[in-house]
Amino acid sequence: MKKVVSLCKQRGFVFQSSEIYGGLKSAYDYGPLGAELKRNVMGEWWRDMVHSRENVVGLDASIIMHPDVWRASGHAAGFSDPLVDCLVSKERFRADKAPRPNPGDALPITCPDKGVAKDWAEQIEKRFGVALERDGNVLGGLTAISATEFGFFAKGAATPAKTWPFRGYVSPTFGSPFLSDERQFNLMFRTALGAVDPMQDVAAALAELSAAGDLAAAVTAQYPSAVADAGSAIAKAIASGERAKLIRAVIETITAPNMAYLRPETAQAMFVQFKNVMDSSGMKPPFGIAQMGKSFRNEVTVEHFIFRSCEFEQMEMEFFCEPGTQKEWMAFWKEARMSWWQRYATYPESFRFRQHAKDEMAFYADDCYDVEYLYPWGWGELEGIASRTDYDLGQHEKHSGQKLRYTDQEKADPATGKKPWQYKPFVIEPAAGATRAVLAFLLDAYHEEERRTATGEIEIRTVLKLHPRLAPIKCAVLPLVKKDGMPEKAREIIARFLQAGVNAKYDEKAAIGKRYAKHDEIGTPWCITVDGQTLTDGTVTLRDRDTTEQVRIPADEAVEQVRSRLAR
Ligand code: GAP
Repeated sequence: MKKVVSLCKQRGFVFQSSEIYGGLKSAYDYGPLGAELKRNVMGEWWRDMVHSRENVVGLDASIIMHPDVWRASGHAAGFSDPLVDCLVSKERFRADKAPRPNPGDALPITCPDKGVAKDWAEQIEKRFGVALERDGNVLGGLTAISATEFGFFAKGAATPAKTWPFRGYVSPTFGSPFLSDERQFNLMFRTALGAVDPMQDVAAALAELSAAGDLAAAVTAQYPSAVADAGSAIAKAIASGERAKLIRAVIETITAPNMAYLRPETAQAMFVQFKNVMDSSGMKPPFGIAQMGKSFRNEVTVEHFIFRSCEFEQMEMEFFCEPGTQKEWMAFWKEARMSWWQRYATYPESFRFRQHAKDEMAFYADDCYDVEYLYPWGWGELEGIASRTDYDLGQHEKHSGQKLRYTDQEKADPATGKKPWQYKPFVIEPAAGATRAVLAFLLDAYHEEERRTATGEIEIRTVLKLHPRLAPIKCAVLPLVKKDGMPEKAREIIARFLQAGVNAKYDEKAAIGKRYAKHDEIGTPWCITVDGQTLTDGTVTLRDRDTTEQVRIPADEAVEQVRSRLAR
């Protein structure tokens, strides 16, 4: 991983964002080669998902959507709720809904299975310094000592061997008391739309409220209708008696009309535009809408270089099908997506499926798989393929009041036995990370090979065995030396490549061996060299990056030869 990160910087694939200002955590810029690689990955996805299929069309929706989209999708939930992460299982949950054991109660951590229990016991030992007792899938030995403290009691011990502050609740699924601080947060980045700066109104309201002796009374006087609505944030905050909560509720109320969010996924636009796309393009289920582009998440943990960042790119497709056919389509898309990943990989065995356990899936999903890649730190997610039922269309129907259905004139409604059948299609969603794909393909391609030089010494050849269609530069054209008409001939050849739209580069700097080494390192699949023979018989050498073998071909055929190899 370190070597790939270093190569990325040195050769211009990926830079830390705003590096000259000390860098911005978790934000990355794609340099000249990275920009090409990312475009190629996304281009290949689009070619496979949209251009090679009759039943999939594309969409390029705006990043900022109506705020109600995120209320309907469930992304906005939790704005005013304290969220907590379990430090062991990574489960994120609402603190106010969590189970609250009494002082003296045992706090068993119930893991999904024995294997996970072993992993989590090891994690806990490493991070918290205690070896919990393992009994099948349950980790024992923890007890709530009081409302604010829990401890580890070895078998039969009356006093704890170790204690920690207790939040008074445990995680709902596994019962873990190892929890992060409570945070009022949402993954979505907020922004304000409109010419008026809402901060001005916030400042004015706070100036007034801060002078008030009785905050609740002052808020009630200013926002009588919000206070009268028991479900409003202001009414709830007054009922809680917490000053900070009330101030926050007031700020939320003032800023709400202008509030907008950067999309945390590209998927929702495909549900929201389902009807428009279907009506305008004449598509009918089964059909898909595909989109790729930027998504933004204010991730609590950013990690592993571009693996998890706050700004990233996704490649998602919502495939709308008849209810009851989702199992077949899930099988279809699983196969299609895995073969896409493996087609571009040097090591196809580094990609696998992992089916989600029932308690891991969203409540509305009826099946879900991750395509996982074997990263240097272990297997991790690359793409999720979810069978989402008709949940999303149903949510958008509910929140928008618009019908998002397909009417099949030929079929009878299974419930009534009468034609036509009007239904909300079920959805299979293959959702891949484009920037994560860039990382996976770089890791898959990075090779170091030992080889013997002409003088008999062993040297390491670094070669990026990127699939030619992903490679940033398809072909380098190199004059053997900078004289005898070779540069002129090489320039003629490069001009033909550029005219044909093949990204080729002319390179005359350094000795020929160094130039080959540089192009091996950045993944250029072919090098064409103009040498003395070229000037007499019109042939050039075509060198293959992976085998380093060279063949002589007519210079006039160089473009066609590269193009036909790219098409393979
Ligand atoms: N619409 C479903 C959805 O967005 P997801 O599993 O949250 O599902 C899909 O995201 C893919 O997007 C993931 O498999 C991953 O490859 C990528 N992804 C998600 N969050 C990311 C992040 N913070 N940084 C980079 N890639 C991310």
